[in-house]
Amino acid sequence: MKVDGKPYRTIWLASDGKTVQVIDQTLLPHAFVVRDLQNVANATNAIKTMVVRGAPLIGAAAAYGMALAMAEDPSDAALAGAHKLLLDSRPTAVNLRWALDDLRALLQPLPPAKRREAAYKRAAEICDEDVEICRRIGENGLGLIRKLKPRGDRINALTHCNAGWLATVDWGTALSPIYQAHNAGIPIHVWVDETRPRNQGASLTAWELGKHGVPHTVIADNAGGHLMQHGQVDFCIVGSDRTTRSGDVCNKIGTYLKALAAHDNGVPFYVGLPYPTIDWTISDGVAEIPIEERSAREVSHMTGRTGTGEIATVQILPDGSAAANPGFDVTPARLVSGLITERGVAAASEAGLLALYPEQARAA
Ligand code: MRU
Repeated sequence: MKVDGKPYRTIWLASDGKTVQVIDQTLLPHAFVVRDLQNVANATNAIKTMVVRGAPLIGAAAAYGMALAMAEDPSDAALAGAHKLLLDSRPTAVNLRWALDDLRALLQPLPPAKRREAAYKRAAEICDEDVEICRRIGENGLGLIRKLKPRGDRINALTHCNAGWLATVDWGTALSPIYQAHNAGIPIHVWVDETRPRNQGASLTAWELGKHGVPHTVIADNAGGHLMQHGQVDFCIVGSDRTTRSGDVCNKIGTYLKALAAHDNGVPFYVGLPYPTIDWTISDGVAEIPIEERSAREVSHMTGRTGTGEIATVQILPDGSAAANPGFDVTPARLVSGLITERGVAAASEAGLLALYPEQARAA
């Protein structure tokens, strides 16, 4: 997508053929800064501190992290060490494990001298593949949007967190159908949940929709149910960090509450996801998906721009109050109207997913 007229992806290889460059998402929307990742420690840190975030981008960054590790030391020990270091960086998005296992399976049988080149090549392929997958999710989601019967003179979508191009390599998952609808001239407006505590909706989704000219309105996380009761939401669309083989969807904390409100109000609730987000090894999302517990400071403090233009962090809790910060929740499949994938739209069920991915059927 373009930023002030210049096309960008969220991650790319610098002209030296070794350094990996990313957009620093901790500074948006107030500053657009590109960071260099020079080694596997830089890549791990970028994922941990959420310089890069969003399930598909975490996978792409991990793939390049393996390439950076192989550029430093292509030994078996370094390969195993980089896989573990990167795997431990964030627990919930399964794209991380998918990318790391893919790279390890490719590199392990190779002689060490061949690993660096193979790793960079595969990381670049993963990025290109992600762009194409997300473009197709957009096309498949656009088909659903065209069939909606909006209640007003525009189509109102509601989204949570950031599942746009910033969360992927390009296009996004949940926002890809929205970009494609907007590009096709369909009058679409997006209600953007601010997404406390880190405000990925307010700071990232609002920024990228604004840069592309998509009409949007940021709302407090608690406003969605009220808007749905008053007919102001035609559909909800979110991304996923991990989807079980039975269609349960784990996404940013607060997604489940939106799905409950959508169900109660007869509003379709769609999830856009690429195949590496499906964890075929598990069925029960609530019981089996590890939920990241982040720092209480993200709840007790907020960061923003002051009237004089400086970035400032302020405390919003009384001294001494405890805060808890689970990063994700699970929306059970029964609340999901459809899973929009690169292969088409699946019912949120094992049968629905297997109809699109028959190669994942378990041997009897
Ligand atoms: O903690 P984050 O910002 O990495 O969480 C991101 C999300 O929850 C996204 O909705 C999800 O990764 C899907 S991204 C296409």
